[in-house]
Parts: sequence; C-alpha cells; structure tokens
Amino acid sequence: FVHAADHAGDELEFLMDHVMEVEEETGKILRVEAADSEWGRGGGGGKRSWLVGSGDRKPSSLQFVTPGFVDTHIHAPQYSYTGSATDKPLMGPDGWLESYTFPAESKLTGDRERALDVYGKVVGRTLKNGTTSALYFGTIDVAATKILADVCVAKGQRGFVGKVCMDRNSPQNYSETCEEGLAGTVELIEYVRGLDAFRKGLLHPVVTPRFIPTCSPELMRGLGDIAEKYDCLVQSHLSESVDEVAFVQQIHEGEGSDADIFEKHGLLRRGVAAHSVFCSDADLKKMGSANMAVAHCPLSNFYFAGGSLDVEKCESCGVDVGLGTDVAGGYSYSMLNSMRMGVVNARNKLNWKAAFRLATQGGANALGMGETLGSFAVGKELDAVLWNAEGAACLDVWEGEGAEDVFQKIMTLGDDRAIGRVFVRGRRVL
Ligand code: GUN
Ligand code: FE
Repeated sequence: FVHAADHAGDELEFLMDHVMEVEEETGKILRVEAADSEWGRGGGGGKRSWLVGSGDRKPSSLQFVTPGFVDTHIHAPQYSYTGSATDKPLMGPDGWLESYTFPAESKLTGDRERALDVYGKVVGRTLKNGTTSALYFGTIDVAATKILADVCVAKGQRGFVGKVCMDRNSPQNYSETCEEGLAGTVELIEYVRGLDAFRKGLLHPVVTPRFIPTCSPELMRGLGDIAEKYDCLVQSHLSESVDEVAFVQQIHEGEGSDADIFEKHGLLRRGVAAHSVFCSDADLKKMGSANMAVAHCPLSNFYFAGGSLDVEKCESCGVDVGLGTDVAGGYSYSMLNSMRMGVVNARNKLNWKAAFRLATQGGANALGMGETLGSFAVGKELDAVLWNAEGAACLDVWEGEGAEDVFQKIMTLGDDRAIGRVFVRGRRVL
C-alpha cells in the first residue's frame, strides 16, 4: 500500500507486505497490519481483507495499492470534444467557449440518449484511469445533469455534480434566466438528496455558477443563498486567465478581484475554485478562511491561463489544493497526466510525490472529505486502485529494482493498462 499519510510529510509511506481489513457495509478501513503480524499471518480476520505481495502472490515490488484519484475539476459534457479545439483562446467571439464548449454542452439539452452516451463514456473512462471521486460540471440542463448523477451511481464513482448556471454573456440557445438557474439548482439538489447514494456519501450536489462573466449579480447572490441553505459545496472558475480577468474588470469595474466579487455575492464559501492562477495573496487568504479550495489544472493553464499557479503560496495562505484535469480545457482525462503536468509546470518545484499527494489527499481535502478519503488511515473509507507493474504494456521493470523506483515508474509512465482493479467505498467497481 502506498499513500501520502499525514505523518509522512513530504514523503510517501510504503506499507510493504501488509494486510487490510475493510468493513463490508461501510467500506471503512478497520485495520492495516504487516502480513507477518499475528493477525496478518492468519490472513486477516475480517470479512474482507487483502493480502498484497506475500505468500504465493506476485512479489510486492510489482503490485501496489494506492488511494483512488480525486479529480477536483472536470466538465463531463466536454468529454465529447476532448483532444480537439486545443488552438483557441478561452474568451472572445471565435474563442474556445463560443466555438466548441457552448455548442457541445447545448447538444445535451433534451437529448437523453446523447447525455447517457457522453456521461457513460466520461465516467467509465475516468474510473478506468483510477479516478474514484470527481467534481463535475454538468450543463445548464437539469434533466441531463440528473442523468450524470445517475451514471455516477450506476458505475460506482463518487460523484460531486453541479448544474451549470449562466444567465448573461451566453449564446441565446445556451443560456437561462436567473430564476431558471436558481430553480434548476434547487431541483438538482433535492433530486440528489433523495437518492440512497447521497446518504452513503457517494453523491453530492454542487452549486455551480460557471464563472463571473456569465453570471449576473442576482444569480450569484441567489446561488450563494442556496449553498448556505443546503450546506452545499460551490464550484466555479476564478481568476483563470489573462483574458477572463480583463473581461471581469470591464464588467465589474471598481469591484476588486474575482475573489472579492465572489465574496460580495455570498459565494466565497466551502467549495472549489478552479485555476485561481491570478489570485493575490489577499485573495488566497480570504479563500483559505472561507474554506474555498483550489483545483490546480496545470495542462489547461498551459493553454488558457498565460501564467501558472504557485501551489506552495496557496498552501501557505491556508488554501487546500487538489489537482484537476479540466477536461476539455485540459485534453487528458487521466489524473496521472495532471500529476505529470503539475511537475513540469512547476519546473520541478513540485516533485512527483507532492503531485501524488495533491491528486489523492489534497483533492479529498479540497472537497471537504479529508477525514473520510485520501489515504489508508484507519477509519477512512477505502477508495483505491490496484496497480500492476508486471506485464503492463506501458513500462518495463528490471530484476532487482527497488519498490519505490518501480512505483515511480508507474506514476510517471503508467496509464490505464497498469490498473488492475478499482474500489470505491470498499466495493470493487472495476
Ligand atoms: N471558464 C468558463 N467556463 C469554462 C470551461 O468550461 N472551461 C474552462 N477551462 N474555463 C471556463
Ligand atoms: Fe473548467
């Protein structure tokens, strides 16, 4: 078992040849012990336990179990054009949002079959790549966003799901009134709260103002009130790019930064702000106090931002940082890729172990689930990925290589071909 344990600081903890017991009903980790302990030698006592790398199994240096990845920012409907549209700026009449995003998202309105197809594929694909929790933007359509919630439940991924709200600076055929945005948000929240998966902590509704340019002051304020009333997470994009920041300064002259504007409208609260590349120290401190975390999306930043996020600065201002793919602003749906891009983007100021921490425990913290997810501490719920180095087509292992080096190879060169199994809340989902 490999994880970013709280007590391990900047290192990862490698629990070689260990046994884990997980409670069947709740997925809670009850015990983690060395396989040669008295309890371990008995094969573990519980209803469900794993023996990794001992006895007649594969040697442990070739098989690892990690916490599942937490993608703190991904747009489910944009999966359909992932890998294209990489040559456009974010804003403007011929920009990425206008020419690809809004048309793709609007296609899901009133088309149940297409929503099932796109959402089935994005949830399936991300699970297959080790993402056990995802914070999703849906579209403005409530019916389609309910389908996204249903698909997460059906496939077993922990879903944090938001109906996108936008009532201005949006195309005529892909916009809503303030009232529709607010009523749709409440409808989604009520729907999710009625499902068994909500009670189990597997599904969460999220209040989702797209970003300041497309949300009127009334809409922002109303959404802030809803988040307060239902005690929901908020997600949005803050201080994402040079062109977005300039646009906001035009339409909200004299009102300060994106974070100031969110604060003014009651939206600076428990939740996740994607990007936040251009947040000042004062912004970050405000966000930290309000429990608003940052989803760091390094690949997307490369295309859109015109700058990069200082993760260390965020954390020193008290802001939790997770990693996000930002599909389709980032073309990769793999959190391994987000980790690698995070390292490259920071010119090695962030090493692979720190990136792994952000992709697991950091993401769990960002979602307010740090006590429940993110590592193998006893009492947490088991969301996990089993990785196989041996025979994986994406990398080679040599005789006598140490476990840490083999594990780093998986994190650096691996892809879904190295994933054997995926577990959510103790249950095998893949
Ligand atoms: N800003 C507003 N909407 C979006 C979006 O869909 N993706 C990204 N990356 N930024 C946005
Ligand atoms: Fe985004």
